[in-house]
Amino acid sequence: MEQTSGTELTAQARLAEDVRRDLGAVPKRLRPHYLYDALGSKLFEAICELPDYRITRAECRLLSDHAYEILAGFELPSAVVELGCGSGEKLALVVEPWVVSGRPLAIELIDVSDTALQMARRTLSRFPGLTVSLHEATYEDGLAEVARSREPGCGLLVAFLGSNIGNLDPDAAVAFLGDIRGVLEPGDRLLLGADLVKPERDLILAYDDPLGVTAAFNKNLLVRLNLDLGADFDLEQFAHRAVWNPAASRIEMHLESLSAQTVRVADADLRVQFAVGESIWTESSYKYRMDDLVQMGATAGFGVRDQWVEPEAQFAATVFEAR
Ligand code: TRP
Repeated sequence: MEQTSGTELTAQARLAEDVRRDLGAVPKRLRPHYLYDALGSKLFEAICELPDYRITRAECRLLSDHAYEILAGFELPSAVVELGCGSGEKLALVVEPWVVSGRPLAIELIDVSDTALQMARRTLSRFPGLTVSLHEATYEDGLAEVARSREPGCGLLVAFLGSNIGNLDPDAAVAFLGDIRGVLEPGDRLLLGADLVKPERDLILAYDDPLGVTAAFNKNLLVRLNLDLGADFDLEQFAHRAVWNPAASRIEMHLESLSAQTVRVADADLRVQFAVGESIWTESSYKYRMDDLVQMGATAGFGVRDQWVEPEAQFAATVFEAR
């Protein structure tokens, strides 16, 4: 059974409302999930291929090396939920040994991008015997849908990969892990991929690549506002900036105004003034130490079952178990 939920109209109204609030805030910001429209999702796929962005390759190595252990020991039937599925390739690595051995598995994919959901469905269609459901929704709404349809007695693994946890502030990250814990029963699992602290040079290159793909990904947010909300952002007048903030242990992504300018966002009924050098903060990407991850999980009600590190990229995959 496959289904897509969510409607265009509400999404547009929500975008307008978020933009009105967040571009009116100090400092100005925009919600990172808006980066992932159809073009943004494709650009992000390209980022994952960049030599300097090692998260995706490192995580895929860990997932294929440990795929069996991730799901081993689960009672049948089982379900896997992925938050932010992207192309579905990572999930394919996780479920492969499971489905190859002929065991049925239900898959629930949650993503704000319909492009990503369709791609993931195509990727997973190479495994017969998987039941794939699509949820075009934010993580929160998607999780609520999954919680409503949760079958009692069915083992659940929630996968939250790509260090997307790092895009939440620490308090929000722990609260979010708690929300995930809320849809789980004791013994269910959370598979968390998280990027670790590493030298600043490596971090900057990963988020400000010499080809300019990350800059295009970030600036596409302005293209989206021009298209979806009738805004008049001049892309030449904004620059992509990635800054490492060691005190907060995060990379900050900004769109910096190169001139004093006023931008109109017609469909949000908004005029926004920018000073030279003033920026829109589009994303943070927190980097962790191993024990930060254990601690965050513990606070949210999880114990650690397994933890692996990819040594070159310094990336960790942790399998938590709900207590
Ligand atoms: N989850 C990804 C990360 O933090 C998202 C990401 C990668 C990103 N590159 C970016 C977000 C550039 C905004 C801008 O690594």
